[in-house]
Amino acid sequence: MADDADDAYEEPLFQRVIEYAAAADRDIVRMVSGHPDWDPPAALREGLRAYADGDPETFQYPPREGLPALRGEIADRRGVEESQVIVTNGAAEANYLGMAEALDRDSGAEVLVTDPVYPYYPGRTTMLGGETTRVSVGDNGHVDVDAMRAAASGDTAAIVLNTPNNPTGAVYSLEAVAELADVAADVDALLVVDEVYDHFDFSGRFESAVTLDRDNVVVTTSFSKALGITGFRVGYAVFPADLVEAALTRHTLVNIAASRPAQAAVLAALEETPPAYYESVRDTIRGRIDDFTAALDAAGAAYTTPEGAFYVLVRFEGFPGTLANVQRLIDDTGVAAMPGAAFGETYDGWIRFSLCTDRVDEAADRLAAYFDGR
Ligand SMILES: Cc1ncc(COP(=O)(O)O)c(C=O)c1O
Repeated sequence: MADDADDAYEEPLFQRVIEYAAAADRDIVRMVSGHPDWDPPAALREGLRAYADGDPETFQYPPREGLPALRGEIADRRGVEESQVIVTNGAAEANYLGMAEALDRDSGAEVLVTDPVYPYYPGRTTMLGGETTRVSVGDNGHVDVDAMRAAASGDTAAIVLNTPNNPTGAVYSLEAVAELADVAADVDALLVVDEVYDHFDFSGRFESAVTLDRDNVVVTTSFSKALGITGFRVGYAVFPADLVEAALTRHTLVNIAASRPAQAAVLAALEETPPAYYESVRDTIRGRIDDFTAALDAAGAAYTTPEGAFYVLVRFEGFPGTLANVQRLIDDTGVAAMPGAAFGETYDGWIRFSLCTDRVDEAADRLAAYFDGR
């Protein structure tokens, strides 16, 4: 199905739910957005402090492609050439660069995405003058490769994927992503793979698309979720060698560069943070998934158990995931979440709960009591 321009800018819906919850005259458990509530690693704060005391020389424009040491650290970790890495303002800008590049190649105007989908992809496609086609996911929220293949055509400029996935929690197999790289190549399109939740894999199966090393695949991610710093705005894209220069030009014309203090703090965090930090955050989320879903079992609700990322989709019988119902939940239970309809049609009967709060037990109890009494 093709989107019309009117429903493509979904941010107001996120904003509307957040504002509605903020205006509520009661205590609210906030499960709308993916803003980590956990601490960043200690080295991040230390890096930021050290930066603040530095020479004013270091307060000036950084190299447009990113601080050399950060770029080098990223390239080493990812096994790619440093020249392929552009440090961006979050995965948001990295995705923008990949999608803009795809639509700029005179190879079509269509962007293929899954349904449900992170709403900024269709919004950005419209902004860039392209058209979105949504393809329903298959079992357990996984991308349906055959349906994507059937939908791809000469007009397809890009296929945009997100794994681990927001909102379904699916972790796609590398084989599926590789097949989609082939599908994209067959119609001269780019595959953009957004891996912003790469540190939140509970399945043990996640493998980054950078390992495919294809000349039509752009991989994006950021430190927003991994280090609990969505406000820092540091991410990156790994481009195929032939595409990096055009993307760098666009990045320079839009931003000049990504923020230097934030890059310095991220570099310090990468250098000093042991794997135990990431593991402990994953443990926290695993615990929240278990607690929240156990209480949902007790409430008799259907739900998705995420293989990755930190969202749970829940279906309450006779209570579809509309904005009105989400507002009703805020008023009647004091639990704020996102309508499934914000992500498309496939899960529009569902409601998405973000696990970025330590009050998931309380939220589930409130929901159970509410639906029990209906
Ligand atoms: C799928 C997806 N991509 C990108 C982003 C934005 O990431 P960043 O903060 O790195 O721009 C989000 C944020 O929630 C997301 O869910």
